[in-house]
Amino acid sequence: MKIPFSPPYIDEDVKQEVLSALESGWITSGPKVLELERLVAEQTGVSHVACCNSATSGLMLLLHWYGVTKGDEVIIPAYTYAATALVVVHLGARPVMVDCNEDFNIDLEEIRKKITPKTKAVIPVDIAGWPCDYNQLNALVKSPEIKAKFNATTEVQKMLGRILVLSDAAHSLGALYNGLPMGQWADFTVFSFHAVKNVTTAEGGAMVVNLPEVFNHADVYRTLKLWSLNGQTKDALAKTNGAGWKYDIVYPGFKMNMPDICAAIGVAQLKKYKEQILPARKKVFDNYVERLREYNWVQLPPLDSVNKISSYHLFALRINAISESARDKMIESISAKGVSVNVHFQPLPLLTVFKNMGYSIHGYPQAYDNYSREISLPIYPGLDSKTDYIIDSIVEAYNEVNG
Ligand SMILES: Cc1ncc(COP(=O)(O)O)c(C=O)c1O
Repeated sequence: MKIPFSPPYIDEDVKQEVLSALESGWITSGPKVLELERLVAEQTGVSHVACCNSATSGLMLLLHWYGVTKGDEVIIPAYTYAATALVVVHLGARPVMVDCNEDFNIDLEEIRKKITPKTKAVIPVDIAGWPCDYNQLNALVKSPEIKAKFNATTEVQKMLGRILVLSDAAHSLGALYNGLPMGQWADFTVFSFHAVKNVTTAEGGAMVVNLPEVFNHADVYRTLKLWSLNGQTKDALAKTNGAGWKYDIVYPGFKMNMPDICAAIGVAQLKKYKEQILPARKKVFDNYVERLREYNWVQLPPLDSVNKISSYHLFALRINAISESARDKMIESISAKGVSVNVHFQPLPLLTVFKNMGYSIHGYPQAYDNYSREISLPIYPGLDSKTDYIIDSIVEAYNEVNG
């Protein structure tokens, strides 16, 4: 049996939606992107969502919108994908990495310790689709002692008057925190529609605007769209549709817009995400939990509770009392049985680019412990009939490696 790790969800509706974009005579940013923005806004219960060509682009654009630049610091978890840190580096600022908790998410006490007058933003990451502790994080950045440290240097920083909370929700579309969806818990929330994500546009991202009321959300949305299209006053569709050929470039923007042909995939998927795709993922997740909980060498991922419901993006299994090299041997054995598994994530200080910047894994013991024992199992709709085979492969691999 061959079980891929994370194939995209492509059904007849996705094909029809893409075909309609192809046949419409318009394939770059246009009506499909607007429809996807409307659907994400509906899913998250907010008024304004701006799509772009990746979560990486969205995170970088939003930090730039907040004026993050050389000399500034942005607090991020050491346990995440490299993009969370690289966007900070690209703006000339310094990523300040903090350790995570046993649940994989950023450690709030560590954040508190690392805040300085240079801190402009914090990027919590909902690892595997499991929400961070947003109530505590929001209370921290709004507390008088932390606000007193904040040194506003741009107009928007003065308006907000505190550290920006920018949620990297690349994994957590559809997850709930205290009954409300991701998108409503940070100043901005960024979803990823990369090919392996719960909802995909092949490549793509969405920026959800949820700033306090002093900001006009429609204005922020317009700015984000303008800056993600070179700062150009009329997009190509507007020019084609009779708005006249002449445009202006009013800001040195970026080329980060999402094409309609990509948005079409996401539109078809999002229409059935809550009712079909998400429950189908949960079914696989629950199957794993039910079978795996009988083994005392298994550490299950955090399970849904009253205040946190996952989006089941990853099934992050951990093996108790195993070394990194024995875990790697287990992965080899599982792969040899035709089951594709993965590791999420290598903590950033283990990666060459960050080592060369001076980061060292020694400051992040929990991140290393989580990583060294972790195996991400495949999880996607339709896999529930194969979960027994997957579990059998894991149990056999464990017995082979551990005698
Ligand atoms: C935690 C996290 N943040 C950011 C990203 C970047 O997403 P994108 O590929 O859409 O830029 C990813 C992608 O895998 C991710 O896992």
